[in-house]
Amino acid sequence: MACILRASHPAKAHLRRIAVPNTRLALPMTLPQLSASRTSNNGYRNLSTTPTLHTEIFHDIPPLRSLRRSLLLSNRTVGLVPTMGALHSGHLSLVRLAASENTDVFVTIYVNPTQFGLTEDLASYPKTWEADMRMLQDLDRELASEGAGRVSAVFAPSTKTMYPTLPPDSSIPGAGSFVEMRPLGQLLEGASRPVFFRGVATVCMKLFNICTPDRVYFGQKDIQQTVIIKRLVKDFHLDTEVRIGATAREPDGLALSSRNVYLGERRRSAGIVLYQALRKAEAQYNAGNRKRGDILWPANDHTDKTHMAQDALEPSQRARFEVDYLSLADPETMEELDEVDETRGAILSGAVKMLPVEEPRAGEELGVGDGQIPVRLIDNIVLNPGS
Ligand code: PAJ
Repeated sequence: MACILRASHPAKAHLRRIAVPNTRLALPMTLPQLSASRTSNNGYRNLSTTPTLHTEIFHDIPPLRSLRRSLLLSNRTVGLVPTMGALHSGHLSLVRLAASENTDVFVTIYVNPTQFGLTEDLASYPKTWEADMRMLQDLDRELASEGAGRVSAVFAPSTKTMYPTLPPDSSIPGAGSFVEMRPLGQLLEGASRPVFFRGVATVCMKLFNICTPDRVYFGQKDIQQTVIIKRLVKDFHLDTEVRIGATAREPDGLALSSRNVYLGERRRSAGIVLYQALRKAEAQYNAGNRKRGDILWPANDHTDKTHMAQDALEPSQRARFEVDYLSLADPETMEELDEVDETRGAILSGAVKMLPVEEPRAGEELGVGDGQIPVRLIDNIVLNPGS
């Protein structure tokens, strides 16, 4: 019997399962089946003519666990790459790293509501399911030809699956079952986004429990998140290894981020101010300075001067921003440092908020949201011990 599958968002997965009376439905859909379905005339595709390919998409936990068990029994290793989708080459670099160190990679795509505050951009967070699947499919083909590990599973659960007891609550204090690290989760990013790390630690604990990965992969781009995850693994005795991938950047140095699509040209070019400031501070450390003031002053000076230069421009030309913080912190606690201990090194990090464009020019490329969505940019540089 012909089995019709439809490319759809994970929220509609239950429809697909119910609508098609075929035993093959017990299997999750593979990426090529999904993308191939878009090539047919009516958006539907006959599964029986689709070549068998590697990556499987899961929306529910039991079939994913059964795959995990079978991999374990065959002595294969799993690297987990948690994401919120809207994939870019920063995410893909983590998948590559995971594939170079494991036989199988699980990628999760889930926009986790509990890490967004009540006033934050949960509703407008970019969702690009089909493009994400195509990127993973292309990457998996490359990995196959390189003989590396493969993207074996994409896990895209619903919120009911991830939070089975209560609807998730993003308020403070918030009803529900949460994992928290204090004070680590309340510093820096946590000071500006009070529920953020509670949400991240909670969802990652769930994902680790579901996937039981040998290794988990996180980007240095979100450095405090990596510190939180290492603490989660250490304090809760989780049997996995935390691996950190380098920050993927645009040619001028701007860190790739799913939120960059909101910037538009004008704010995009001004947004480099943060990385430039961090580089100036890093140069001080590399020149032998260890005291906070000596390291941070050129960074603060650079943001101040750029700020004044933007303010002096016409509203139709300028891109205004606010500096949230520039930090020099301990690599394990994220507490601010007066002086860097060379045996421990330090983390230079910062956040700026790009404010909405005041006066758009005719024909100006303003990005998604017409330049009216404030965009928070974060970045960091690790000052290695002994360097
Ligand atoms: P998301 O923002 O989608 O990022 C997923 C992973 O990609 C994170 O580990 C992040 O640090 C990494 N990443 C993002 N931009 C990167 C870049 N330019 N270079 C290298 N890695 C980059 O971070 C989250 O999702 C969520 O908080 C999550 C951990 C999935 C929990 O919900």
